[in-house]
Amino acid sequence: MTYETITVERRDTGVAVLTINRPEKLNALNKQVHTEGVAALEDLKRDDSVRVLVITGAGEKSFIAGADISEFAGQTPVTQRNLFHEKTFFNSIDSFPKPTIAMVNGFCLGGGNELALACDLRVCSGNAKFSQPEINLGIMSGGGGTQRLTRLIGEGRSMEIMLTGDMIDAETALKFGLVNHVYPAAELEAKTMELAEKIATKAPIALQLCKEAVKFASRSNLDEGLRREVDLFAICFSTEDKQEGVSAFLEKRKPNFKGK
Ligand code: COA
Repeated sequence: MTYETITVERRDTGVAVLTINRPEKLNALNKQVHTEGVAALEDLKRDDSVRVLVITGAGEKSFIAGADISEFAGQTPVTQRNLFHEKTFFNSIDSFPKPTIAMVNGFCLGGGNELALACDLRVCSGNAKFSQPEINLGIMSGGGGTQRLTRLIGEGRSMEIMLTGDMIDAETALKFGLVNHVYPAAELEAKTMELAEKIATKAPIALQLCKEAVKFASRSNLDEGLRREVDLFAICFSTEDKQEGVSAFLEKRKPNFKGK
């Protein structure tokens, strides 16, 4: 499939890289990016050669500078609600069954931060800047930001980011737990790939079930979560990869997981 606003690269390491490719607009998310992003995720979901997905923005200046503000003029409450209520890019990332990593290179603003929040892990360059600046436009976050940011970093910190619209730097994002790692810009891609490739060597079904269990933790109470965990854990015992993992340990060799 060919796209105009994104690129998709499949590497032989089991890692795919989806790049938002509008560097001249700092990779702002227009409707076409949303549509193409959702279509690409559907495709990547079904491709067994893809075990981990990295999402990034083209160029060194910006990951994503938010929603494309030039499209706001034509929006009515109904069209805007439909855009964000249906199968959004954000929610498609959130429900993507394989591990996802946001590789944040520069500005990570508004919908860009919401997109990063929908990923499982976030790594960034030292020059990254994060904010939810919607408040400066007289609106608020609508791509999941108020919910996902608050669950990730807590109400007080989330509230300050949401209510001030101020940018925070990479070190503050690390301190807040918004990102997992900060790397010098020149090392960002190599370090991200190291992390992605490590995860890509693990058993795909166990990764998927584990991800589902961890995500369920912030969407349920403890008793429901513990029950769900046991069920998902039990499913692992039906896989060939579980036999392979255990045999490899006992035979003192590296496992070769096949996703079966
Ligand atoms: N939507 C549409 N276009 C955007 C954009 C956005 N969110 N963010 C940047 N752009 C465009 C600019 O309009 C400019 O286009 P032009 O060259 O055709 O005029 C281009 O990207 C480069 O941006 P520019 O503002 O010139 O870069 P800068 O380095 O001076 O400033 C930012 C960078 C990120 C501080 C600034 O672009 C900005 O504040 N962007 C909006 C961020 C925002 O509010 N996002 C949330 C939207 S809900």
